[in-house]
Amino acid sequence: GNVIAVIPAAGVGSRMRANINKQYLLLEGTPIITRTIKALESCPEISNVVLVVGPGEEEFCRSRILEGNGFTKVMAVVPGGDHRQSSVYNGLCALPQDTEMVVIHDGARPLVQPGEISRVVQAAGEIGAAALAVPVKDTIKVVDEQGKVVSTPPRERLWAVQTPQVFRYELIMQAHRMARAAGVLATDDCALVEALGHPVKLVAGSYENLKITTPEDLVLAAALLRRRYNRCE
Ligand code: CTP
Ligand code: MG
Repeated sequence: GNVIAVIPAAGVGSRMRANINKQYLLLEGTPIITRTIKALESCPEISNVVLVVGPGEEEFCRSRILEGNGFTKVMAVVPGGDHRQSSVYNGLCALPQDTEMVVIHDGARPLVQPGEISRVVQAAGEIGAAALAVPVKDTIKVVDEQGKVVSTPPRERLWAVQTPQVFRYELIMQAHRMARAAGVLATDDCALVEALGHPVKLVAGSYENLKITTPEDLVLAAALLRRRYNRCE
């Protein structure tokens, strides 16, 4: 069956404090979003890619990001919404009806490795929903509105979830429709599937698959990329 990737890349990157959308920033000479699309295209299981960009950025993306880069799998560029969830939903709505699995991957995670994507696709094939995740390094506190600590969940049970998050097409469509009807907004897609009571499998990933969010993440990502090149030489 068809495995299609949806890349939400329609955020404004407020925490990056750059004057352009963070995924157009250069990382070791190449725009972040270009690196992300390349990573997904290089995964043999994925047949097509749907790119979700800021409303009004479609033409810029086609001419400055897609053209001349030799991409072969990008089937659509669609406008996103106000929140990540609505951007993903817009991407899902652009998928062909015969889609079997959907690989949702943040535009801001350019360091994902093809092998990691394959492992999540495999796990989702077995139970319907799976995501990459890593054990948290810091101890996490739950606080009230004043910042006073309410509780400290045991660290052994806490995982930081990343993307890709991979789902059977029917399941993720149903999860998004239910969330919209109920007015639920979540920061990741697994949460919507969890709300249906459907099991979600976490696949152990890598700390390298960081989401470029704040300025220091760019420095770290560049250092990680340089380490990769050096290892290949
Ligand atoms: N995203 C999206 N549509 C939105 C908001 C976010 O497609 N309305 C995408 C981002 O482009 C990013 C991914 O979702 O690739 C993860 O979101 P995040 O890291 O929070 O990016 P931004 O929302 O752009 O950043 P910030 O929250 O700092 O403004
Ligand atoms: Mg955001």
